[in-house]
Formats: sequence, C-alpha cells, structure tokens
Amino acid sequence: MKKQILVTGGTGYIGSHTVVELLSEGFDVVIVDNLSNSDISVLENIEKISGLRPVFEKLDLSDALQTESLFLKYPNIDAIIHFAAYKAVGESVEKPLEYYSNNVGSLMNLLSCMNKYKVSNLVFSSSCTVYGQPEKLPVTESTPRREAESPYGNTKKVCEDILRDSVSAYAGMKGIALRYFNPVGAHKSALIGELPVGIPNNLVPFITQTAAGIREELKVFGNDYNTPDGSAIRDFINVVDLAKAHVVAVDRLINDNHKTNYEVFNLGTGNGLSVLEIVESFQKVNNVNLNYTIVDRREGDIEKIYADTTYANKELGWKAQVALEETLASAWNWEKNIRNIK
Ligand code: NAD
Ligand code: WQD
Repeated sequence: MKKQILVTGGTGYIGSHTVVELLSEGFDVVIVDNLSNSDISVLENIEKISGLRPVFEKLDLSDALQTESLFLKYPNIDAIIHFAAYKAVGESVEKPLEYYSNNVGSLMNLLSCMNKYKVSNLVFSSSCTVYGQPEKLPVTESTPRREAESPYGNTKKVCEDILRDSVSAYAGMKGIALRYFNPVGAHKSALIGELPVGIPNNLVPFITQTAAGIREELKVFGNDYNTPDGSAIRDFINVVDLAKAHVVAVDRLINDNHKTNYEVFNLGTGNGLSVLEIVESFQKVNNVNLNYTIVDRREGDIEKIYADTTYANKELGWKAQVALEETLASAWNWEKNIRNIK
C-alpha cells in the first residue's frame, strides 16, 4: 500500500516542490494549507507536472480543532512534513506574537494530535538562521545555535526544542529537523516556483523581479564585509534538490533507518557564494542586464554562512546536484512564465 504523507504548507514554495517529488516517488499526498501565503492554482500546476492531483484541505493549523479534524478525517497518515509557517524575518520583528502563535502554535497542535492519534513521524522545516553568525565556517550540525536575530529565527529554535522534547517524551514519536540554507530557483517546468507577496525580501526573487522590470533596481546590501568581494556570503541551495531531501527524510523515518529519535541535518550545497557573484552569474546565464546599486548593509544581516554537508551527504545519501547556472536559469524562467515575458 502507498504510504500517505501529510504535507503542511504544501501549496507554498518549498512545499509544492516537495509534493511533486513525493508524488513521483509513489507517495500519497494530503496537502493542508490555509493559503495565507500561497495560491490554490498551485494545485493545478502540481497536477500538470505530476499527472496526479494531491488531496487538498484548506485549514489553519494554528487552530487546535481544525488541526484535530484533519487527523480524524485521515486516520492512516504515515508521516508529516511540516512546512506551514510565517517566514518574513522583518515582519516578525513587527508582529512577534503572530509569528510565535502561528509557527509555534501550529507545531504544538500537530504534535498533540500525533501523540493522540499515534502518528509517529515528523519532518520539520528549520533554518540556518538558528546558527546566527557562527564563529567557525562551514557550520556542522553540532555548531552551537545562537541567540536568534529575530522572532522568526527564534520560532525555528523553539520549534526544534519542542520537537526534540516531544520525541523524547512520547513513545513512538520520531522527528527530523532539516536546517535549510538559502533555497532558490524553481521547478524546471517553470510551473511552480516562489511567489512572494508584495516586495520580495529575498535576493533571488528581487533579482528576477528587477530583471522583469517590476522593480527599478536591485540594492546590494553592503560591499564592506570581510569577504573577497565585500558582499555577504550565503549557501544557495536549489529548491528541487532541497525537496528531494525531504523524500529521503520521510523514508528514513518510515523505514526506521534513523540513528536517534530526533535528528538534525544541514541542507545546503557546502559552497559559499557572494551576493555579487549571484548577481554576475544571473546576468551571464540569462543574458540579461541587471540594474543594481550598492547600498548600506541591511540591519540584522550576517556576514557569511555556508554548510558543512558531510553528515547529511553520508547519513541521508543525499547531495545537492543542480548547478548554480541551472538554478538561476530556472528562477528566471519561472519569473518570465508568470509575467508572460517571452
Ligand atoms: P511559503 O510561505 O511559500 O510556504 C508556507 C506555506 O504555509 C504557505 O503556503 C502558507 O499559506 C502556509 N501556512 C502558513 N501558516 C499556516 C497555517 N497556520 N495553517 C496552514 N497553512 C499555513 O514558505 P516556504 O519558503 O515554502 O517555507 C516553508 C518552510 O520552510 C517554512 O517553515 C519556512 O520557515 C522554512 N524555511 C524557509 C526558507 C526560505 O528561505 N524559503 C529557509 C529556511 C526555512
Ligand atoms: C541573502 C543575501 C542580503 C535582498 C533569509 C532568512 C533566513 C532564511 C533564508 C528562512 C543577504 C542580500 C538580499 C536584496 C541584497 N529564511 N540581499 N539585496 O537574509 O540570508 O536569509 O532567508 O528561514 O532565516 O533570514 O536571505 O535572500 O534575504 O539575503 O543584497 O534585495 O542577499 O543582504 O546578504 P538571508 P536573503
């Protein structure tokens, strides 16, 4: 029988790419999303890519009763991948309670139901934000976590702890926290991708919107960092590579291949690239001119971070595959597709 995976936030950016990979690997998928940051049309596009339409439930996981209704309706869930959360760092500073309530509340509701209805396996979307600016690079899974830079970052840290403590307290419960570095790019079909609401905060969507003429110019935040070209360094990971790691994580839990009941993995490429390198590469690969200017550093930004992926590569048998050029081409193709640019 097919294994059934509940994907929360499954119409969102990373969730939708993961659903496509799960369907192609033969899993049954139930998506739950309240569409607070995604569009229902994503379902059609998942169907166009996969030839399969996942079951969809529109509900709010920060509501305990709505969450419970899901477990009553689907009594045979084998694993949950929990993407649903608010993710805008700046907004979380303005609205901390909404962020704690949504991000922490939703995880707690899910874990309570998992305990009550005996669902064992949960994969949680964490973030490299839990490391802050590490003293030593690259970061391994045992690099100490730091005081969070934002309420958003703190929700990730707190959620990791809640998952770790729940797994150790409730018999049969197992969890994997995946710490994503900077997810970028889109599915090669250009049918699904990142759909930021309003002005993008993240680098690559801002670049593609600038190239599309929606934004006048890209502001590169700082060229006075202690890096070779002075701009900040990140580990940009292709979203399809990232999605595939979730299939591996789910398999690991379902097949009891985990080492401990709570595991943590870094999901990155292991390569640090600078903001200016991304800008140059985007222009070259896509043969477009990008209007950009250097401005002051953005408050709260760290100088550099990239992953040590040795542990994830070895333990998960997973490695980021897609070349940066292909990733940046996919991001541009997606933007062109949604803007009807030829
Ligand atoms: P996204 O906003 O595209 O997807 C999240 C989805 O969750 C959205 O479709 C939204 O409508 C839904 N959602 C939010 N709150 C909900 C609720 N209470 N009930 C039901 N649905 C709800 O974000 P994404 O980029 O796909 O990120 C997915 C996860 O990965 C998030 O937990 C995010 O914090 C984490 N993450 C993202 C990044 C990144 O840069 N994109 C990096 C590290 C970690
Ligand atoms: C990358 C670099 C910017 C926009 C954020 C969250 C993190 C994680 C991933 C969820 C930085 C620079 C950006 C622009 C720029 N998300 N930049 N001009 O800040 O590394 O991480 O997303 O967990 O928690 O903090 O990603 O894409 O915003 O920025 O120069 O218009 O690009 O200053 O150096 P970041 P980002």
